[in-house]
Amino acid sequence: MNSLATALCSVVVVLGTLPFFSYAQLDPYFYNSTCSNVHSIVRDVLSNVSQSDPRMLASLIRLHFHDCFVQGCDASILLNDTDTIVSEQSAPPNKNSIRGLDVVNQIKTEIEKACPGIVSCADILALAAEISSDLASGPTWDVPLGRRDSLTANQTLASDNLPGPSSTLDQLKSKFITNQNLNITDLVALSGAHTIGRAQCKFFVDRLYNFNSTGNPDSTLNTTLLASLQVICPNGGTGTNLTNLDLTTPDTFDSNYYSNLQLQNGLLQSDQELFNSTDADTIALVNSFSSNQTLFFENFKASMIKMGNLGVLTGSQGEIRTQCNFVNGNSSGLATQATSKDSSQHGMVSSM
Ligand code: HEM
Repeated sequence: MNSLATALCSVVVVLGTLPFFSYAQLDPYFYNSTCSNVHSIVRDVLSNVSQSDPRMLASLIRLHFHDCFVQGCDASILLNDTDTIVSEQSAPPNKNSIRGLDVVNQIKTEIEKACPGIVSCADILALAAEISSDLASGPTWDVPLGRRDSLTANQTLASDNLPGPSSTLDQLKSKFITNQNLNITDLVALSGAHTIGRAQCKFFVDRLYNFNSTGNPDSTLNTTLLASLQVICPNGGTGTNLTNLDLTTPDTFDSNYYSNLQLQNGLLQSDQELFNSTDADTIALVNSFSSNQTLFFENFKASMIKMGNLGVLTGSQGEIRTQCNFVNGNSSGLATQATSKDSSQHGMVSSM
């Protein structure tokens, strides 16, 4: 009997530690002895940049997501076009849309001064996402570290794997669950990042004038929001004007994204799908996160850590890039392209 109890206890202990095993390759203390001030370097740059550009915090959270969903969190999104690289930055979900490449370079420059050749660009993206959440009053977590940088990029995969703003719930599930092995809670929690940041009109203008080729607006869109969006995004306009993803608290990381959905105030179709579809699971999660911000934050942290673990390179895989926009040994004479690719100004600021 005693040995049975011991055996059961061992099973429980082993099962209880399994989640740690699945993240065992990465470690929040990875740079403790090699670059102990890496966190404060990233924080200093972001505190500074966000004073003049509060939106940058949102842009960096998104950059980590767009990195992780394409061949894993390996900084492949940062690679510029060269003779051998077809940049992910030109894939439709990224082109004229992602921001913050210059800020990542600024962070990397500061880190290289303090600890040359130690910290990967993929880890900088993960750290920048967490510190951005913190600076926007969102949740904080210990970021598992030790990722290495890819030697390749995959533009086709960027086009295929990144979800579009007109996605139906089935399409979102296919991108998050089928392709990445995440679950429905991850989908709803991670979408909550749309509690901060901006979107360009072109990503939701179909909802304002000609939804699903009906010649009419999306009938589910809150009519007050519809009227104000029609002013910001004129029919036939350039599509580059900007509006807030969260119309209530645009730069504060909170649970209002979910209460917006309950009032049909989701900006993107893909947002509103989480509440309007017939999937009881996503509706229940939206309701829970709307009424309990702590629950949202706990789930967001867990899902960000899970997302940050997707397809990571560790050990002797990949490399630690010297310059985040180029694989090592392939940046001579190309360094100027890194700064000319500054994407911080995409979209025109609306009157908001
Ligand atoms: C669920 C599927 C998702 C879709 C269809 C989607 C789509 C979009 C689109 C179209 C924009 C506006 C981009 C622009 O106007 O240039 C945007 C912005 C943003 N997305 Fe998502 N997204 C999704 C999930 C996520 C996830 C999982 C995260 C992070 C965990 C995220 C973080 C953000 C942030 C913070 C912004 C604002 C960026 C800024 O202001 O620069 N999104 N997203």
